[in-house]
Amino acid sequence: MSDTPVIRHYLQFSDFTADEYAHVLARAALIKKKFKAYEKHQPLVDRTLAMIFEKASTRTRVSFEAGMYQLGGSVVHLTTGDSQLGRAEPIEDSAKVISRMVDLVMIRTFEQTKIEAFAAHSRVPVINGLTNEFHPCQILADIFTFIEHRGSIAGKTVAWVGDGNNMANTWLQASEILGFKVHVSTPSGYEVDQSIAGIRSADSYKVFKDPMEACRGADLVTTDVWTSMGYEAENETRRAAFADWCVDTEMMRVAQPDALFMHCLPAHRGEEVEADVIDGPQSVVWDEAENRMHVQKALMEFLLLGRQT
Ligand code: CP
Ligand code: NVA
Repeated sequence: MSDTPVIRHYLQFSDFTADEYAHVLARAALIKKKFKAYEKHQPLVDRTLAMIFEKASTRTRVSFEAGMYQLGGSVVHLTTGDSQLGRAEPIEDSAKVISRMVDLVMIRTFEQTKIEAFAAHSRVPVINGLTNEFHPCQILADIFTFIEHRGSIAGKTVAWVGDGNNMANTWLQASEILGFKVHVSTPSGYEVDQSIAGIRSADSYKVFKDPMEACRGADLVTTDVWTSMGYEAENETRRAAFADWCVDTEMMRVAQPDALFMHCLPAHRGEEVEADVIDGPQSVVWDEAENRMHVQKALMEFLLLGRQT
């Protein structure tokens, strides 16, 4: 009988069960509380995280790097430009080498198939720090933020206004696992695709032509940039197509009176969101950004050490 430990990866939101999310979110709350009290929490002493960025980042880099140091570990930062990854070393070879030297790998890249190929050849857990298809760490932080402000997200309604992109796909996966509804409104040609989103059915989401209707009665209104990283060539076409998908005060007014506004950032005021909304009283975007660090600390702890009590 083999005693090879089972490696858990976090490549998409559906990699964890609802029960595992309950555990990770509870740990994140504890880890955040200790951080705020300047209490050390260092279960990952001598462990190393490699972070591989094939796209730009502010939040993902700072939150993983600061978080890993706070857990007692250390970090190696690689980009396509300063590693052999940019000179066509096969991803499988890179995975085999890097995962012999570190304990955990976080990757931000283009196609989901790339991170899957890396994970298939990695000896250590791999975390998705954003792909074209998914952004699970962000949705984990968003759900943690919702719970902090409003309690359980089960049974609530999230309005997604904008592109049927990596964030939208991940919200859809989360809704199936955690039992909430997503109202999706995208311009035509930018719809969510159930097979790309990797969801089992259309039961947890509803599509609206009019973004205002998607926001009606929602407990959370959320959006993202019109043009995601890697799609810059479509910038001008997208600007025209998305002109009516700007979250404004009218959309917030038809949502629940205590509705929250979220945006994963970076944001473009005057494009996907009005300044009055993102800088207004219902916006929790700064908590969302900070919470990336707390939830990812809980995620790294879980992937390396399993359930801690
Ligand atoms: N939200 C997010 O992932 O931000 P960065 O691109 O700055 O990492
Ligand atoms: N959808 C955006 C999110 C950035 C954090 C992108 O992929 O560029």
